[in-house]
Amino acid sequence: MSNKIKRYLVTAALPYANGPVHIGHLAGCYLPADIYVRYLKAIGKEVVFICGSDEHGVPITIKAKKEGITPQQVVDKYDGIMKNAFKEFGINFSYYGRTSSKTHHETAQGFFRNLYDKGVFKEEVTKQYYDEEAKQFLADRYITGTCPRCGNPGAYGDQCEKCGTALSPTDLINPKSALSGAVPVLKETKNWFLPMGEIQQTPAFQEYIKRFEDWKSNIKGQCNSWLTEGLQSRAMTRDLDWGVPVPVEGADGKVLYVWFDAPIGYISATKEYLAGNNESLNALSTTNWQDWWQNEETSLVHFIGKDNIVFHAIIFPMMLLTHGQYILPSNVPANEFLNLEGDKISTSRNWAVWLHEYLVDFPNRQDELRYVLTSIAPETKDSEFTWKDYQTRVNSELVSIFGNFVNRVLVLCDKYYAGLVPTVNAVLSDPKLVAAQVACKESVAKSIAALNENLQAIKLRDAQAEFINIARAGNKYLADTEPWKLVKTDEESVKQILFDALQICAKLSVAAQPFLPHTSANLANMLNAQGLVWSQLTDAVLVQPGTQLGKAEILYKQVEDEEINKQLLRLEEIKKSNSEQAPVTKTLNEVKPHISYEDFDKLDLRVGKVIEAEKVPKADKLLKLTVDLGFEQRTILSGIAEYYKPEELIGKLVTVVANLAPRKIRGIESQGMLLMAGNDFGKLYSVGPEQEIEPGSAVK
Ligand code: 2FM
Ligand code: ZN
Repeated sequence: MSNKIKRYLVTAALPYANGPVHIGHLAGCYLPADIYVRYLKAIGKEVVFICGSDEHGVPITIKAKKEGITPQQVVDKYDGIMKNAFKEFGINFSYYGRTSSKTHHETAQGFFRNLYDKGVFKEEVTKQYYDEEAKQFLADRYITGTCPRCGNPGAYGDQCEKCGTALSPTDLINPKSALSGAVPVLKETKNWFLPMGEIQQTPAFQEYIKRFEDWKSNIKGQCNSWLTEGLQSRAMTRDLDWGVPVPVEGADGKVLYVWFDAPIGYISATKEYLAGNNESLNALSTTNWQDWWQNEETSLVHFIGKDNIVFHAIIFPMMLLTHGQYILPSNVPANEFLNLEGDKISTSRNWAVWLHEYLVDFPNRQDELRYVLTSIAPETKDSEFTWKDYQTRVNSELVSIFGNFVNRVLVLCDKYYAGLVPTVNAVLSDPKLVAAQVACKESVAKSIAALNENLQAIKLRDAQAEFINIARAGNKYLADTEPWKLVKTDEESVKQILFDALQICAKLSVAAQPFLPHTSANLANMLNAQGLVWSQLTDAVLVQPGTQLGKAEILYKQVEDEEINKQLLRLEEIKKSNSEQAPVTKTLNEVKPHISYEDFDKLDLRVGKVIEAEKVPKADKLLKLTVDLGFEQRTILSGIAEYYKPEELIGKLVTVVANLAPRKIRGIESQGMLLMAGNDFGKLYSVGPEQEIEPGSAVK
């Protein structure tokens, strides 16, 4: 860290406000950013930590189409949900903004106007893909096709998520509209381009990229490969109706490219924070936003996931640089991806561990998830979350090493000294005990030094391992000296050993601050040692003799097999329902192969009348219906809760596949299936007869 640095502005990628938060988000950037910020604060640095909802861009409008609501309704729904999930997990942003805010619109437009007035942009009329059915230009994620670089057939018009390449829609092989599935046509439109190839050649940019040398190899590698290939101009405006309007003449119906406005969201959120009345502002030496963004005394650090690298390490810096008044990032720690049980995490396939669901199944166990996600953080390569591994790490590390050590020490102190920190009257004399004491002190000191080094270097996995090593050293000290036996023969030595052990507990409460904030506070209360600070980690005495200790609570509960099996079962059901739903996601112009009439005739389709409908607890998508088929009533589970309220269905005539083999879902037997019409986005509409007709009538 350079000497001139006086303050840190740490950002975590603004997540699209189009769905709840899952473990991949947390592990990718929010948790590492939070740990780093907590550490910086602990060592006395001045830090502002910024995040917020990214409310523009195609991911939002696609979600709106899918749910049949407006983009504004989408962002209003998810902004609060996301903000709350982060808070629950102790992600302690100074401020969580929104890119729909007035400040943001003004800041983004002002920024664009500044570059426009300087003549930075190239105004060009180019041919862009257009969907004639949807009557819309197809930017970014509205268009999919094959990545020209790695052959991924599901690449988007702005990026291939598989190889990370930034693309333009015209780069895609076999492009297809994500709106209608149609093959798009090219149509002329005017846009404003950032001439990235030219900016790449400027001395200022060449100077900036020297910073990559000190960055993680995954970022360095990706950036260098783009730079070597040479950068193409990129349009900073889009022909869309959702976003920040382009603030220049002749730009009606155009908005800023979401990757132009979103990173400016960091600036607008900082402005809003500093102009507000949050109590944390009192600790800052300056609330002038320019000091945070336009002063070389600030270190700007962007935490992101790997799919955001080019935007943060190249495009945004180019914007900042051509503006001229801004500082550039001093580090962009990007993580790779976290997979779940052998498969890529996917919101659309519901293949995720959702934070709000975790909180229901594991209440007050946020630190356990923080711990596991940091242990397996995808810092240098993709990594994998499995529930078995979660159980093992919690039980054999948090419970058996850390929790057990603290508990043993507190229980012994309670038993021998009525919960008072013992006063030590004589130093250890037995050579075996002395050797154990020296070894323990050395080991703890070494781990604390390594903890600091790793935190400075943002190697958080290694840092957390050193934290656990401190508890390991404490356990070994107790195992080597066995105070519970020694107490019968040498009470004075036991006082020294437990005094030492209590100091280690206190160190653990301090060292836990960045990683396990809830536990850190609990432990400090148990030790009656609130307010200890990071610099005391190297002190010999943190809790004074005679201090009354609090009650020894269990820090972590054992994770039971049943808890894990429940999660595995849930994932299994999702996998099953994904494979059943697969036909719904096929594009509209793809028709399945022919079948014979006999095959068709095997289906027994009947008209049914819904007579009862209710939500299935803890299953966002499922409704439990009672359907009258005339000759009998059936219980049918249907994955339509996102599209129908239970009361809307009562009395409705539907089409039932009456001879589908019954199947248990969430412990309930589903005795058939409803026919649904589904568009490309998976939105479902029930299919029933036009007129009232007897339930049980055959559909042929
Ligand atoms: O990938 C994403 O989720 C983007 N919304 C990240 C934006 S980061 C920044 F630029 F705001
Ligand atoms: Zn690719």
